Amino acid sequence: MANSSNGLRQGCVMTTRPFEQWFAANNNQSIEAYQQYMEQTIKTLEHYFTRGTASFSGTTPSQAKEQFYSLFSTLVPYEGVDRDALLQKTGESILRHTFNPNQPTCIAHLHCPPFIPALAAEVFISAMNQSMDSWDQSGAATVVEQEMVKWLCDLFGYPNGDGVFTSGGTQSNYMGLLLAREHASKRLWNWNTQQKGLHPESHKLRILCSEEAHFTVKQSAAFLGLGEQSVITVPTDQDYKLSIASLKQKVEELTEEGLIPFALFATAGTTDFGSIDPIPSMADLAQDYNLWFHVDAAYGGALQMSEQHKPKLQGIDQADSITVDFHKQFYQPISCGAFLVKNQTSFTHMTLHADYLNPEEDEVEGVPNLVGKSVQTTRRFDALKLFMSLQAVGMEEFSRMIDTTLEVAKQAASHIETDSHFELLHKPELNAVVFRFVQPNSPRQEDAINTWVRDELLRTGTAVVARTKVDKQSCLKLTILNPTTTVEDIDYVIQEIKRIGLSYTERQEA
Ligand SMILES: Cc1ncc(COP(=O)(O)O)c(C=O)c1O
Repeated sequence: MANSSNGLRQGCVMTTRPFEQWFAANNNQSIEAYQQYMEQTIKTLEHYFTRGTASFSGTTPSQAKEQFYSLFSTLVPYEGVDRDALLQKTGESILRHTFNPNQPTCIAHLHCPPFIPALAAEVFISAMNQSMDSWDQSGAATVVEQEMVKWLCDLFGYPNGDGVFTSGGTQSNYMGLLLAREHASKRLWNWNTQQKGLHPESHKLRILCSEEAHFTVKQSAAFLGLGEQSVITVPTDQDYKLSIASLKQKVEELTEEGLIPFALFATAGTTDFGSIDPIPSMADLAQDYNLWFHVDAAYGGALQMSEQHKPKLQGIDQADSITVDFHKQFYQPISCGAFLVKNQTSFTHMTLHADYLNPEEDEVEGVPNLVGKSVQTTRRFDALKLFMSLQAVGMEEFSRMIDTTLEVAKQAASHIETDSHFELLHKPELNAVVFRFVQPNSPRQEDAINTWVRDELLRTGTAVVARTKVDKQSCLKLTILNPTTTVEDIDYVIQEIKRIGLSYTERQEA
């Protein structure tokens, strides 16, 4: 059967295809079915989005399981169920009991409310289902990712840079340390780990990071065959930033012991405190000691979009590689992140060719297959949601959002500091605020009280705040990523914390 120039088969009478009601774009009826499913889905969501001010239903893990099975008697029925019933039951038994990061008092983790244009982009992403590993599964999607990566390289001061979209900070940090290990093996021993496995001396390799660095440093070291033993943590100063004097001393001690420091890992926005390591001095030290310098800006990377706060990331352009997450302060639906390198040649350490996906001929012909830049093969077109969000919101409004969250955090910290029932543990540099409920006149059971306060807030759905430990003491944490959260919202949460904290002692005494 001949093909016409527009790709339609000549002489082919379009008949109903088997199963087509399940696939969105086969004919008008299936498009209509898709549209109705989507409309009903949004209606279902609407009901839970507007369910009041609670950030959570307060369900426990065992209740959640019970609620789920009360509406779904089996996970996979023999015959499929009706659309409206499925959506209604999904809403009642699942959506109702999930956390709502859109609520201004859902401020525990680096868990953001997603932008509306990004939600629209998710519809395109999932319906078109492009895969970013090869040109012949992605077409224009590859071009958009490449252009967004170029824009990110400009934003972070990498004129010869390159990068790739990732599933988030874990993957990006892993890639930074992977390239660092490859780079060191080549430089030290002219050794290709990709081909030969670990060099016999690899057990001497050491990565330096602060005590506050994310756990993925150790996890990556373990995955890379270097073991957690290869990670040396450096003490922090009173602001929970890496201490440069201690770093220098550690590097020298390690070298004297015959070990090989090869990577320096800075954090721009630590998970608990949001503190930013001294990037310029670390960059200088990395250069002096020939260390691969990686900056984990998973949390703080968005400051680069704010004229007011960008100076806090000064020196980030000196890093060999950068982690930046968009499902944190860039308000993207999970998952969405990027890994950037200063020199595009760094990706040669990961080169691979699969005949079915990215044959060498494609490279010669300039066909872009992104699989060689990622540790994933099949990969989502997440660049689209960042692109559409920034198109819709614009730089000016976006940077005001970042500035707003930092201002609210600053005021929250000052209100906490002036209340004798609280101990503020740091001056926020980003928008995380760590503090403790205390009882100035009878400092007893404070660890238990802080833990209980957090659980009570969750149980009642009043607010979602985080717990953490600082010097083994239980603390509370507010992570104010949401730009719609106001100082009044925070004051309300603080007053609730105080009320619940005081009621603990009263309950004990009663
Ligand atoms: C500083 C930092 N780096 C890396 C990560 C890991 O990122 P992800 O959860 O996106 O994998 C986190 C997560 O919170 C983080 O706070």
